[in-house]
Amino acid sequence: MIKKCLFPAAGYGTRFLPATKATPKEMLPVLTKPLIQYGVEEAIEAGINTMAIVTGRGKRAIEDHFDISYELEHQIKGTSKEPYLTEIRSVINSCTFSYTRQIEMKGLGHAILAGETLIGNEPFAVVLADDLCDAKKGVLSQMTELYKKYQCSIVAIEEVPKSETNKYGVIAGNEIEPGIFMIKDMVEKPEPKDAPSNLAIIGRYILTPDIFDIIRTTKPGKGGEIQITDALLTQAKKGMVLAFKFDGTRFDCGSIDGFVEATNHFYNKSKKNESKK
Ligand code: G1P
Repeated sequence: MIKKCLFPAAGYGTRFLPATKATPKEMLPVLTKPLIQYGVEEAIEAGINTMAIVTGRGKRAIEDHFDISYELEHQIKGTSKEPYLTEIRSVINSCTFSYTRQIEMKGLGHAILAGETLIGNEPFAVVLADDLCDAKKGVLSQMTELYKKYQCSIVAIEEVPKSETNKYGVIAGNEIEPGIFMIKDMVEKPEPKDAPSNLAIIGRYILTPDIFDIIRTTKPGKGGEIQITDALLTQAKKGMVLAFKFDGTRFDCGSIDGFVEATNHFYNKSKKNESKK
């Protein structure tokens, strides 16, 4: 039912300068795979086959990554190195990629609105590639399943230490099933004393397409930016928005600590898999 996934990927990645001076932050690798490829693979696992990427200036490497490199194919074909291309070939063969540019950086809500031209009038998923998730069953798969039951916008949440609420959108709501909350309040990056709970939004969303009209009328909020959190609160007040405590582990690869943790986690996992072979 959810066929499209939007990837806001126009941000500068200033925390990773100078690495991100000429390389998009979404292309930083955890082991051998760029962050955005993990997100695309999670979307494919959820049955999504149309990737819609909102880019900006300096992001050409993302388009080249999800395309054939004829020179490389020619060089590597029939050699012992060919298997290194297997995974990315399978990604390219199982979905389509379209791109649009966010001309100015005016917040996540604004970036999502820029993607309307690629999404149209249907429900869609959103992945923020710097939240890297590892789960037995992918987080987006868990969410698309929930969408089938409730047919409304859904945000993924996890508990964070109260001292960190100012890094996230934070929700408050009534728990209607274990781990599923009907949202009553949402605040973008509140100081701990103002936070309605310690349930933080992480970078996975399912959105119904009426969100676009809501974003259009959403005023700039925290940091003078158009926040998806504010638009979702409006949607929740008009109807229903759910928050979902997913099963799995999430790494904040937008921070150096989270990035190193993710690298260690996936490295240990790959070593374990190797020793099983
Ligand atoms: C964005 C959202 C925030 C959410 C976070 C998840 O913030 O605005 O509500 O909690 O992603 O990673 P950003 O991290 O882009 O500043």
